[in-house]
Amino acid sequence: MLAKVTSCAVVGLDGALVDVEVDVSNGQAGFTIVGLPDAAVQESRERVRASIKNSSFSYPFKRITVNLAPADLRKEGPAYDLPIAVGLLMASEQLTADLSRALIIGELSLDGIVRHTNGVLPMAALARERGFDTLFVPASDAPEAALVPDLNVYPIETLFALVMHLQSMQPIAPYHPAHDFAPETAPAYATDFAEVRGQEHVKRALEVAAAGQHNLIMTGPPGAGKTLLARSFPSILPNLTLDEALEVTRIYSVNDMLPADSPLIRHRPFRAPHHTISHAGLVGGGRWPHPGEISLAHRGVLFLDELPEFDSRSLEVMRQPLEDHIVTISRAQGSLTFPANFLLIGAMNPCPCGYYGDPIKECTCSLTNVLRYQKRLSGPLLDRIDIHIEVPRVDYEKLSGDRLSETSDKIRARVEAARARQRQRFAGTKLQCNADMGPGEVRKYCVVDEAGKNLLRAAMQQLQMSARAYHRILKLARTIADLAGCDKIEMPHLAEAIQYRPRKQAG
Ligand SMILES: Nc1ncnc2c1ncn2[C@@H]1O[C@H](COP(=O)(O)OP(=O)(O)OP(=O)(O)O)[C@@H](O)[C@H]1O
Ligand SMILES: [Mg+2]
Repeated sequence: MLAKVTSCAVVGLDGALVDVEVDVSNGQAGFTIVGLPDAAVQESRERVRASIKNSSFSYPFKRITVNLAPADLRKEGPAYDLPIAVGLLMASEQLTADLSRALIIGELSLDGIVRHTNGVLPMAALARERGFDTLFVPASDAPEAALVPDLNVYPIETLFALVMHLQSMQPIAPYHPAHDFAPETAPAYATDFAEVRGQEHVKRALEVAAAGQHNLIMTGPPGAGKTLLARSFPSILPNLTLDEALEVTRIYSVNDMLPADSPLIRHRPFRAPHHTISHAGLVGGGRWPHPGEISLAHRGVLFLDELPEFDSRSLEVMRQPLEDHIVTISRAQGSLTFPANFLLIGAMNPCPCGYYGDPIKECTCSLTNVLRYQKRLSGPLLDRIDIHIEVPRVDYEKLSGDRLSETSDKIRARVEAARARQRQRFAGTKLQCNADMGPGEVRKYCVVDEAGKNLLRAAMQQLQMSARAYHRILKLARTIADLAGCDKIEMPHLAEAIQYRPRKQAG
């Protein structure tokens, strides 16, 4: 007899329906799985066999054929165990159920317990999109699936429990999420901005960066507080909106990185990979491409400390994502696109010894070495960074004084207010913040008066700015105006934005 159950695969960050067809017929006993299965799917035979036996059902010693359709979609991982087992029980007439509007997902252990599966959120989203109303998922993944509204999500503990439910002998209650999305209390941050002494201009620049999601690079001598400032940056970031949280959660779900205690990522990610990271680790890759750090930092921060130490090829491949906010990875089998809309924070010393330009300690590098060090970052990469800021050494008075500066909470309140203005501006569009604006939006929302135009013209000539830099300055000025609560971009806003562009380098 033939039985059909629907399950789901994940391609990139999206779900794709998979029909699991199981045929049990007379003939030489055997178990074959066809339809481009990988090794883990092939091993499914053993798990299904054992879990059927150990759940007190009988395993048919007949000719069993499982087809996973469509055949051209590669099937990865163990998530097809449960649908195969259910199909097998139906095909061997041990179970009758109408599963035409249900999706089944889950890995089985040998004793019939249903185990956690990656990527349940995109699968649930697909189920809803395609008009399925019922989802059978591993019990531990039910909260994640229930993030998608209007679905009956059944948490399944064991194969036996699912069969009992399908036969209406011991119905399982659908999972109802206990909580709504509410802006939660901020997590405990390692350091507060109040504890960073001096560096007020750097804090201001970081506030602007957070408000409009602008990229920023800090240059300064060792021990000036660059790493400290970057690490305390999450404490002034605005909260995620629900839509953003779902976007981020999808990426973490597919990468199997969701925290055990919460199905939803509620705080902006902060990723700080070490400079020895591989090309594929940074932008994504692998034979079956997985999201890299730039996608894991989506809607959050990618902090690259000691920027010139990173492999220059890896940095160059970030150029396209920095502009388009997505990354496309091509393979022989086709290409995949992952979101990568992140805020880049870089930190670096001005030269190998670290003291070039320092007023107190003399730099011991030759000019050639300084130039070579600075050249490790290419012009096109630097052009994509809106805010270039110097972090000089802090003097003793500031460092030893008791005066605490502004707390992160206060700064974050201003950042939130500026974000609220942006959300209002972009309501009904896909944009979230000023950095997302394209040339069309820049023309519409970043209007400057005649005096402003003159200032921009002078700056363009003096700093030899590119067209990109011109647009980036306007977006940055828009954010500075938003922070000030102004509808119009005024001269001081423009002047501050221009001041963040890079000065001439050494030489
Ligand atoms: N502005 C500051 N206020 C308070 N403490 C500071 C400040 N700057 C530096 N420190 C202290 O110095 C330590 C080192 O600072 P940090 O690691 O941020 O320096 P850095 O600029 O990243 O240096 P490097 O270029 O060597 O990486 C901090 O952990 C902190 O204890
Ligand atoms: Mg450092």
